[in-house]
Amino acid sequence: MRNLKKLFSLFFLLSFFCLLNLAAKEETNPKTFLVFGGKTGWIGQKLIELLKKDHHIAYAAESRLEDRAAIEEEIRFIQPDYIFNAAGMTGRPNIDWCESNKQETVRVNVLGALNLADVAYLYHIPVTNFGTGCIYYYDEAHPLGSGIGFTEEDEPNFAKSFYSATKIILEKTLLNYPNVLNLRLRMPISADLHPRSFITKIVNYEKVVNVPNSMSILDDLLPVAIEMTLRQLRGVYNFTNPGTLSHNEVLALYKEYIDPDYSWENFSLEEQDRILKAARSNTELDVSKLLKEFPDIPPIKDSIHALFQRMRQNLNKGCQ
Ligand SMILES: NC(=O)c1ccc[n+]([C@@H]2O[C@H](COP(=O)([O-])OP(=O)(O)OC[C@H]3O[C@@H](n4cnc5c(N)ncnc54)[C@H](OP(=O)(O)O)[C@@H]3O)[C@@H](O)[C@H]2O)c1
Repeated sequence: MRNLKKLFSLFFLLSFFCLLNLAAKEETNPKTFLVFGGKTGWIGQKLIELLKKDHHIAYAAESRLEDRAAIEEEIRFIQPDYIFNAAGMTGRPNIDWCESNKQETVRVNVLGALNLADVAYLYHIPVTNFGTGCIYYYDEAHPLGSGIGFTEEDEPNFAKSFYSATKIILEKTLLNYPNVLNLRLRMPISADLHPRSFITKIVNYEKVVNVPNSMSILDDLLPVAIEMTLRQLRGVYNFTNPGTLSHNEVLALYKEYIDPDYSWENFSLEEQDRILKAARSNTELDVSKLLKEFPDIPPIKDSIHALFQRMRQNLNKGCQ
């Protein structure tokens, strides 16, 4: 009788732990992500780091976007629940490179990204594509400083750089894929001095223009990108913080928080055009659609202060 009681208690305890384990798994519910651009890309690597922190399984894709057979093989092997496309031809040192390398740019930014969306469609896998909002420029209906931003429904009006032109073709074609979520980033900013962060870029320019723009603070938005993917959202979203910041506002904060000896020189848009191969977009995006889903995304003017504080703390830690 005693042994039977012991056996029963053991059985009860085991069942209890099994149930607990199941509940914990259900709660964290880890998903498998395949991240293009995750091996060497700025945003792709950040995504992998975040996904792992959230206890998901994240793989950096090995296949190249233009190699359809390799993408298929990798998808069959990894069997991802979701795909992130943070791969793209961004040009080095900057997008001017795309002006003189048009076929290479099309091969990656158009043909390659479509290859991935199409293969994923055939395998019923959602794709979150990191696109760009640099397909607009202030115009009469959306004047600078008016607070009237371009919505997702507005026709792109800026294709003066070949990079932007390829991104417009990609975005329009992706609209035909019901498995795709396309997030329009602009002038992304991280809380470090990564060379691809907007802050680092403009700090290192000899001269800088001064125009208010929509910008994306990655610490605020990349977790949102993961959540949007898990919520199975689809279609196009302007993907920036609400509001705008000018170059001078950013540089003044850099001087205040990071380097009191820093100084800079402005020049006009016309002068900038003379030293660049391709024109650059300056614009404000309307983020009402994004805020409907995620009302807590902080305004850029608040979030940039918090970011510089984090950056200063990080740099101080590095010096210790
Ligand atoms: N950073 C920005 O200012 C910004 C703004 C708006 C939108 N975006 C978009 O966001 C995406 C990620 O940007 P990022 O700043 O992280 O760019 P990034 O640091 O230049 O990374 C681009 C990534 O794409 C990969 N890649 C290039 N060609 C490829 C191909 N044919 N097949 C597979 N992978 C390929 C690169 O891998 P390899 O090194 O192996 O070539 C790299 O890992 C891009 O599509 C970019 O256009 C960026």
